[in-house]
Amino acid sequence: MKITVIGTGYVGLVTGTCLAEMGNHVMCLDVDEKKIRILEEGGIPIHEPGLLEMVTRNRAAGRLQFTTDVIKAVNHGTLQFIGVGTPPDEDGSADLQYVLAAARNVGKHMTDYKVVINKSTVPVGTGDKVRAAVAEELKKRGSDVEFAVVSNPEFLKEGAAVEDFMRPDRIVVGGDDERAILLMRALYSPFIRNHDRLLVMDIKSAEFTKYAANSMLATRISFMNELALLSEKVGADIELVRKGIGSDPRIGYHFLYAGAGYGGSCFPKDVKALVKTASQNGVELQVLQAVEAANERQKHVLVDKVVARFGEDLTGRTFAIWGLAFKPNTDDMREAPSRVIIGELVRRGAKLRAYDPVAMPEAQRVMSDVKNLTFVDGQAQALEGADALVVITEWKEFKSPDFDLIKSSLKQPVVIDGRNLYDPQLMSTLGIEYTGIGRSAKPKS
Ligand SMILES: NC(=O)c1ccc[n+]([C@@H]2O[C@H](COP(=O)([O-])OP(=O)(O)OC[C@H]3O[C@@H](n4cnc5c(N)ncnc54)[C@H](O)[C@@H]3O)[C@@H](O)[C@H]2O)c1
Repeated sequence: MKITVIGTGYVGLVTGTCLAEMGNHVMCLDVDEKKIRILEEGGIPIHEPGLLEMVTRNRAAGRLQFTTDVIKAVNHGTLQFIGVGTPPDEDGSADLQYVLAAARNVGKHMTDYKVVINKSTVPVGTGDKVRAAVAEELKKRGSDVEFAVVSNPEFLKEGAAVEDFMRPDRIVVGGDDERAILLMRALYSPFIRNHDRLLVMDIKSAEFTKYAANSMLATRISFMNELALLSEKVGADIELVRKGIGSDPRIGYHFLYAGAGYGGSCFPKDVKALVKTASQNGVELQVLQAVEAANERQKHVLVDKVVARFGEDLTGRTFAIWGLAFKPNTDDMREAPSRVIIGELVRRGAKLRAYDPVAMPEAQRVMSDVKNLTFVDGQAQALEGADALVVITEWKEFKSPDFDLIKSSLKQPVVIDGRNLYDPQLMSTLGIEYTGIGRSAKPKS
């Protein structure tokens, strides 16, 4: 099939590349010339495991092209995926300007039947707005070319995006145009060969499903973060509680880790947007409001621990920071808790030596104005002369570190672990003063 993907970011690039991998001819469009240049020169603008190899292979096979030329892109595909950003507006609702601009471009330039597929995360009712935007542009030209609008929310996780797209748990398709649904079934059938995981529903339910999924996951995280606060007070260990409840099949283990707060480009904005949609419809989503408030508080928990140990005034103190990305295996710094934590520590006078395995260039870009923050080339360099180590992102390479080196490099052996990577009992045996999230201060008997 011939496919156009509008917006070549985390979602658009992965979508376009994975669709090309199955033999489709894909053209990815973006307004960002720098991004397209990087791709045309054989690189990729983001870090995503397995993606570069797949992009390279499909470009070489002539199935994957990149362009900034809107007319060329609209002419290329029968299927027009929209994967542009939907950032939060000032009031928390999703800003649809990029989605609607993309839709209007399709309406302006299409000359034959198109299926306009919304892959961006958009509020319930956006399908109607997309349909109206395309129709308006067609009307301006006096054109009666047919088109359909479909909702196809994306559930991939950054850091495992290629794997998620190639082996989806389910594919949600919202639409009422039989021809378009048939095309969507054909497009996705190679991804779900062993059993059908394509769920067809109406557009509004499909749009809602995406927000419901992210809100549920964010709720689990905030729930555990709140219980972690209580665990510390009552002398329980949230890691043991996590195992205790995760083993219940009705609960399961996923998204039950207490930590430094959730971040990224999706959970924070999607929770906000659903709360906003609800209030616009006269419904107060009290649970989700609490999820958001608990997460904002959680981003300060690591700072509180540093202050509890070293005092409110951190002038003259230096801290090693391991991990900047909002989660491992990505360079995405959007809404990363590290940004809040770093800002708060620096504001109190601390100097920071930070290291992340892949997010350093992006972190340098987004925190270029932060004073007293030095980016260093490795875990060991970050520790040099620091008063304590603060772990913010659970990268694999931080999981079994050289504890002797940590002890000998730090001025005093203090580890503040925002991801519960280490065993408190082991740390106590090693003579390291250790604080995790929601873990009993006492070593386990
Ligand atoms: N990142 C994720 O993990 C993820 C997962 C599922 C869903 N989503 C959703 O997918 C959407 C895209 O997210 P993302 O993380 O890929 O965003 P992104 O910011 O990485 O990419 C969006 C791209 O769209 C481009 N763009 C904007 N307007 C355009 C236009 N008119 N024509 C062509 N290109 C245009 C931008 O330049 C940018 O490169 C959002 O709605 C997001 O909520 C994201």
